[in-house]
Amino acid sequence: MSDEQEALTLVKAWTAGRARLKAAGIDQPAIDARLMLEAAADATRTDIVTDPYRVITPEQAATLDSYLARRERREPVSHILGRKGFWKIMLNVTPDVLTPRPDTETIVEAALRDWPEHEPRTVLDLGVGSGAIILAILAERPAAKGLGVDISEEALAVARENAANLDLDGRIALLRGDWTGGLAEESFDLVVSNPPYIPSQDIETLEPEVRDHEPRLALDGGADGLDHYRVLAPEILRVLKPGGRFLVEIGHDQSLQVEPLFRDAGGVEVSTLKDLSDRHRVVWGRKKPLET
Ligand SMILES: C[S@@+](CC[C@H](N)C(=O)[O-])C[C@H]1O[C@@H](n2cnc3c(N)ncnc32)[C@H](O)[C@@H]1O
Repeated sequence: MSDEQEALTLVKAWTAGRARLKAAGIDQPAIDARLMLEAAADATRTDIVTDPYRVITPEQAATLDSYLARRERREPVSHILGRKGFWKIMLNVTPDVLTPRPDTETIVEAALRDWPEHEPRTVLDLGVGSGAIILAILAERPAAKGLGVDISEEALAVARENAANLDLDGRIALLRGDWTGGLAEESFDLVVSNPPYIPSQDIETLEPEVRDHEPRLALDGGADGLDHYRVLAPEILRVLKPGGRFLVEIGHDQSLQVEPLFRDAGGVEVSTLKDLSDRHRVVWGRKKPLET
């Protein structure tokens, strides 16, 4: 065989990778193979399209092969590459944090909606994980300051690293805590949270990428999935300033159960926002403003 025949090009590597992942039953083989090829061959998406016959080195081919083998075993791409894009930021991701989901961007979009760019506001993110929600918000609002709380010290280490990489560490504090324990009342203009909300018995039925690779602490919402909302609703209303806003992610079928928890806790204008797939995703509302 000649050298020319043996040379592995970007397009050949992508095609072969895609076929391998498809055969392994991976959901989006073309996207996953491209993301791993980009990382292994130090190529951009544009390179793959505009320079498809660029030859990759044997070392790059070996790296790609190891990535594909891990993906065949259903390891998430975010764990293989150690990063994941969310909103407009790139985050480091490890098995200690939930991989940020596009659905969660619904919270960011709504949080920014009625917030003038240079207005200072204080933000609390409960269950901060990688820092996805609060860091995306702080990156968009230069006068904002925030506090991220998580019960997992390992998750907080990832959030700290992400805050530093994004040069946002001067505007965020990251603390270990059990939800709002120890936080003073009426302290924040905005409270966001994506708590664990999967019913315990459903976890075993999830895709292996989630079931075997995401932290249980980030998934398990108790018998009916609502345990954490029962604690969070009154606590979020307690720590919000009068007139402050809350945004809480929910499972797509939990709106009718979660909205009343926030109304009963004193929330006003409580309603549910849909995500890009048109599914119920975020319960939001306000704490009643002071009478004038
Ligand atoms: C679904 S993940 C959300 C992570 C991140 N905010 C996101 O949206 O990608 C839930 C997070 O809540 C944290 N958590 C679970 N129980 C907690 C508790 N009692 N107090 C504080 N954080 C908790 C988990 O460690 C996990 O990081």
